[in-house]
Amino acid sequence: MNVSNAIQSRQSVRAFTQQPVDPAVLREILELAGRAPSGGNLQPWKVHAVTGSAREALIQAVYATAATQPAGEAADIRMYPEGLQDPWRGRRADCGERMYNALGIARDDKPARFAQGAKNLSFFNAPVGLVVTMDRSLAESQMMDVGMFIMSILLLAQERGLATCPQASWQMWAPTIRDALGLDESEMVMAGISLGYADPGDAGADIRQPRAALDDYASFHGFEEH
Ligand SMILES: Cc1cc2nc3c(=O)[nH]c(=O)nc-3n(C[C@H](O)[C@H](O)[C@H](O)COP(=O)(O)O)c2cc1C
Repeated sequence: MNVSNAIQSRQSVRAFTQQPVDPAVLREILELAGRAPSGGNLQPWKVHAVTGSAREALIQAVYATAATQPAGEAADIRMYPEGLQDPWRGRRADCGERMYNALGIARDDKPARFAQGAKNLSFFNAPVGLVVTMDRSLAESQMMDVGMFIMSILLLAQERGLATCPQASWQMWAPTIRDALGLDESEMVMAGISLGYADPGDAGADIRQPRAALDDYASFHGFEEH
C-alpha cells in the first residue's frame, strides 16, 4: 500500500470486531506517527492508549458522568463554532444524514440516534482506544501539529489493515478522562481514536462520505504562465 492508496481507502469505521491489536504493532504505529512534522519541531502531542480493564474503566467513568451530565462537561477546545455557517453547516448535516441512512436509523428516531452517539464512548467496541492530548500552555498553531499526528496514526493503521475512527466526541468529557487516566490538569483532550479491526458484517464499517470538488477548495495562481 502506498500513501495514495491509504488516503483513498481510509474511512471512519464505527463497528469493530473483538480481534485484539498486537501491542508491538500499536507501538510501531505511534512511534512512526511521532515522525509527523510540527512547527519548531515542538512535537506537542501526547497519546494515551487504553485496552482491556483500563479501556473498560475509562468507558465506565465517562458513561457515569454522561448519566448525570448528558450535555457534557467543560471541553478544553471548541468542537464547532457557535452558529456554524454554510457550506460547513450543510456538510455537517449531510454527513449525519448519510451516516444514519447507512445505519438504517430514521431521521425522527431520537433514541436510536442517541444510542449511536453513545457508541462513541465505547470506542465503537474497538479493543484499543487512544486519547490524544496537548498541553494547555500551547497555541492554536500547535493544534495543526496534533492534527498531523492524528492523520499519521490513521494512515499507518490503514497500512496495517487496522481501522480507525477519529472522535471529537471525547472532548466533552475532558475532566472525567483526566481523572480516569490520571492526567495532569494541563493536558487538554483533543480527540479520541477508536482502533481495531473493522467488522465487515456491520454497516458502520462501510460508510463512504463524499468530498467537495477540487475547485471548491483549491485555487491556482500563476500556473497559466507555464
Ligand atoms: C477531528 C475529527 C473528529 C471527529 N469526530 C467524530 C466523532 O466524534 N464521532 C464520529 O462518529 N465521527 C467523527 N469523525 C469522523 C468524521 O465524521 C469523518 O472523518 C468525516 O465524516 C469524513 O468521513 P471519513 O472519515 O469516513 O472519510 C471525526 C473526524 C475528525 C477528523
